[in-house]
Amino acid sequence: MASVTLSSVSKSYGHHTVIQDVDLHIENGEFVVFVGPSGCGKSTLLRIIAGLVPASSGQVLIDGEEVTDVPASKRGVAFVFQSYALYPHMSVARNIGFALETMGLGKPAIADKIGAIARMLKVDHLLDRRPKQLSGGQRQRVAIGRALVREPEIFLFDEPLSNLDSDLRMEMRIEIARLHEDIKTTMVYVTHDQAEAMTLADRIVVLNHGRIEQVGTPLDLYHHPVNRFVAGFIGSPRMNFSDIRSDGTGRTLDGPGGLTLTAERVAGADVPTSIGVRPEALTVVADGEGRLAGILERVEDLGHEHFAYVRLDPETLWVVRVAGRPPYDQKNHRVGLAFADADIFLFEKDGRNIAAARTEIGR
Ligand SMILES: Nc1ncnc2c1ncn2[C@@H]1O[C@H](COP(=O)(O)OP(=O)(O)OP(=O)(O)O)[C@@H](O)[C@H]1O
Ligand SMILES: [Mg+2]
Repeated sequence: MASVTLSSVSKSYGHHTVIQDVDLHIENGEFVVFVGPSGCGKSTLLRIIAGLVPASSGQVLIDGEEVTDVPASKRGVAFVFQSYALYPHMSVARNIGFALETMGLGKPAIADKIGAIARMLKVDHLLDRRPKQLSGGQRQRVAIGRALVREPEIFLFDEPLSNLDSDLRMEMRIEIARLHEDIKTTMVYVTHDQAEAMTLADRIVVLNHGRIEQVGTPLDLYHHPVNRFVAGFIGSPRMNFSDIRSDGTGRTLDGPGGLTLTAERVAGADVPTSIGVRPEALTVVADGEGRLAGILERVEDLGHEHFAYVRLDPETLWVVRVAGRPPYDQKNHRVGLAFADADIFLFEKDGRNIAAARTEIGR
């Protein structure tokens, strides 16, 4: 186990800056997940920690020791990539144990270690098979075993489950969570999957254009996003947004569909320019009821829950997420939308979450 510290880390390719001035401390044994849109720099940052990509400036420290110029092989890290290329001509056992052979460990010691790890990952009955004779999930576990056998101080995962079907993903997600509980190795994990980020992470790092937007526990980010970007990124389906007109003091707001809000939460000189409400905070009610009116345009029934798409005005389509089957029998009729005051997010022109700013001051 080891801590990781990134201090003013930047990375450029020519004139293209892909990581900008990142400061981050990852505690010993912590599980940290990087999320962000495609191309925002998640893999690059992970590779900088691993030592596979040199930073253009700034420092990387592992357990307080500067390793900026230490090669990947000497950093005590193990990597599991999205495309976990196993050696096709080697058995599962040799794939797992290969790193130990190159370290010069004796055969009986290697066999013991392979056996222990294979049992933990439930691939001990597959040790004589070749990778092509395995399912995707089994291959994934072998790739994790190959990383584990080296007993790294830090585990780095780059979208390790993205090739798997949803059942296997869930199974592997639970296994990775269990693995972390068992071995308590520091883990840094990149994913596009909301459920993985929310359930695996001690803390989530939200990246955008090579910068950190926010670092926090999953629920912190969900309930107290610092800005509109994080509010829209954490949660699925994403938060509904709408531009609003303010009376200039920020106290009375004209929202979509004729909504008028009195914003008691707005502090000081803040003037909100947009509101957000999460799909799961909305309910569809009869026309004339609720706080917003719109046209129910489309309903998607997933069996256990459904999504209702309500058009508030030509530019604004909001999605409602409700448990259970849809009770609406027709589309394209007028409905109301209901939600509580506490579920309204307000954002300033630069995207800052006004309520979050006040919460911060109050802490
Ligand atoms: N070797 C390279 N040369 C030039 N540009 C690069 C290089 N590697 C990455 N980039 C650029 O750096 C940016 C960040 O890439 P990175 O792979 O870190 O993104 P990512 O967040 O992992 O994206 P994804 O979610 O699609 O995997 C991208 O704009 C990419 O095109
Ligand atoms: Mg990537």
